[in-house]
Amino acid sequence: MADSTRTVAVVLAGGIGVRVGLGIPKQLIRIAGKAIVEHTLEALEASERIDEIIIMMNAGAISELDRLKTDPRFPKLTRILPGGQTRNDTTQLAIAALSGDDTKVLFHDAVRPFIDDRIIDDCIDALDTYEAVDTAIPSADTIIQIDDAGHISGIPDRSHLRRGQTPQAFRLGTIRRAYELARKDPTFHATDDCGVVFSYLPEVPIHVVDGTPENMKVTEPIDVHIADKLFQLQSTSLSLEGMQALPDLTGRGVVVFGGSYGIGASIVRQAESAGATVREYSRSTTGTDVTSAKQVKNALADAARHLGRIDAVVVTAGVLRIAPLVDTTKKDLKKTIQTNLTAPALICREAYRYLAETQGQVILFTSSSYTRGRANYSTYSATKAGVVNLTQALSEEWADDGVRINCINPQRTATPMRTAAFGEEPAGTLLDPEDVARVTTHVMRAGLTGQVVTVDVAAMAALKERK
Ligand code: CTP
Repeated sequence: MADSTRTVAVVLAGGIGVRVGLGIPKQLIRIAGKAIVEHTLEALEASERIDEIIIMMNAGAISELDRLKTDPRFPKLTRILPGGQTRNDTTQLAIAALSGDDTKVLFHDAVRPFIDDRIIDDCIDALDTYEAVDTAIPSADTIIQIDDAGHISGIPDRSHLRRGQTPQAFRLGTIRRAYELARKDPTFHATDDCGVVFSYLPEVPIHVVDGTPENMKVTEPIDVHIADKLFQLQSTSLSLEGMQALPDLTGRGVVVFGGSYGIGASIVRQAESAGATVREYSRSTTGTDVTSAKQVKNALADAARHLGRIDAVVVTAGVLRIAPLVDTTKKDLKKTIQTNLTAPALICREAYRYLAETQGQVILFTSSSYTRGRANYSTYSATKAGVVNLTQALSEEWADDGVRINCINPQRTATPMRTAAFGEEPAGTLLDPEDVARVTTHVMRAGLTGQVVTVDVAAMAALKERK
């Protein structure tokens, strides 16, 4: 039986999502290749502070989640139970399914997939002092109160207003008691879970931890688009903390295309230092043309022969030429597209069979210009957007075979390619290729797939300061 000091996350997925209006429960809408509830589950599963997760799922669609029960990615998921008519009903069913008055329980909306470790930690820590905890953010908009006629009846001081999010976290005994009292009250009307404690246990202070704007609730149709973009823009939650040391890559076979200089060369060095055996292929060292399917195929066969196994294929080969499109020759145009987009696609196609044997992964490189095309390197930006789409699409195509694919989005990096294109730039505004390589070697160890991992100058600088 569960010990009473456990921390349990309850995913509230009992609703339908009428307001999104897509005809399926909104928690099942696929964003970035996965159901929203699955993203939420991943975030909770990744928290070291959470011991157990249960999902309260809309009863009519509960079988849609059956596959998650046996998914090895979710060892903490113990139960998927039917939700109730209202959100409060769903919470009460969850309470009934849990035991231990001291258990810390976090109720989290399934449709808030951008919850992060900081929020989770703050909620769990606050439960050492408080019996009830809410998550909230300030409101940018002025909140006005209206009367039945729709006229303003009050404008509360914004500095005292917050927008409530989830998790709402409690000691189990406290939230159970609050609902017991609520059930006896014939005038009880549905509110959120903190509202039940607020009304029925007024002596219990409810602590508020800071949420984040990203921890939005997918509610209206536009939120689906916003969430989609947020996933695309999101730098994944690889903890910088853990990156100070090299990961252990002992016994792994790594192939780097374009590893003769710049970021690629740093990756080769670091992967070797981390214990991997590495083969590097590039035009200048092995005469490999990455835009030739045949040469890519031969390079991978050669790597497999030497390494015995291929766990990671990294593609850093790329070209960047700065010029207005009208001044770009057809040859240069073709070269940019072929090197930056055709080659990664070819390498993915040829590498797949090796990676399927090892449950390995491809790591591609994009650029911050993927989110918005940039003047004077239009084709380059277009290919980098293409690399992101390739990553997302293949992560779905390969998900069932356990083959992963991610792309690294280094912000401006001090590489020969960048200096050739942009000239000298102020020190401190550029990433060190070694830092980008560090993140890349960590991605080799992480279980991510379909992610754009942004390496940003400020975060890396902060990490160094802490050293
Ligand atoms: N929820 C629940 N049980 C219910 C109703 C809602 O567990 N009976 C959950 C939803 O699945 C969602 C969260 O509570 O994760 C927030 O609720 P809301 O955004 O209102 O979701 P829906 O009720 O699904 O949306 P709508 O009001 O548009 O139908």
